[in-house]
Amino acid sequence: MMALLIRVSKQVQRKSFQNPLLYRLSSECSASRKGPESKEECKWMFGSSQDILAVVRGHVEVRQNFISEEEENELFKEVETGLRKKRYEFDHWDDAIHGYRETERLQWGVTCESILRRVRAVAFPEDSPLLGPVHVLDLDKDGYIKPHIDSVKFCGSTIAGLSLLSDSVMRLTPENKSTDWVDLLLSRRSLYILRDDARFKFTHGILKDEESFFSGQKVPRHRRISVICRNLPV
Ligand code: OGA
Ligand code: MN
Repeated sequence: MMALLIRVSKQVQRKSFQNPLLYRLSSECSASRKGPESKEECKWMFGSSQDILAVVRGHVEVRQNFISEEEENELFKEVETGLRKKRYEFDHWDDAIHGYRETERLQWGVTCESILRRVRAVAFPEDSPLLGPVHVLDLDKDGYIKPHIDSVKFCGSTIAGLSLLSDSVMRLTPENKSTDWVDLLLSRRSLYILRDDARFKFTHGILKDEESFFSGQKVPRHRRISVICRNLPV
């Protein structure tokens, strides 16, 4: 399956940060960023130190409300047909993902294709060759993604994902120094983009419901579907 190609099991021990008191240092709004979304940065990125935020800033992006409710619905309808036939998988203890089912899709209807064109336009350089099929991952309410790095053999510098049905928290952890972390609030209907160092030098994962806090605030995790575009290695 797709997932086996994409994920390399560079899993690291993760401490859980359930205690809101541990979330002391917030991301500063960066004054140097331009555009109407710049003030949002502090709303979706939160980390253990200013230093670690400085490392990922510019390599991660979350665009809130990237798709409308109608578009979310269209995507949901289209991916649901592929997912419906599959069962959620829970019991592979060595998997990076627990409580999920997945599919991939090459051909999309007009509405979804135009959404994906928008994703590609903002996420990837114009001449970047893309992985053909789009990856669709359906996480059960109790599902989660352990820290991992997507295969460098099969995937390139950029990972872009739309989140449907639920808010969630993506945690980035530096591969070599696991006490630091950066959390991204992936609101429902947002698009996240991980590039370069954030994709290669950090693991990423999606927190399970019990651990799903952003800046000390509970972010309830419901069933969540992600629609993920990737490019090819150069
Ligand atoms: C993956 C992954 C993140 C997401 O499938 O490799 O990291 O947004 N998914 O579902
Ligand atoms: Mn991944």
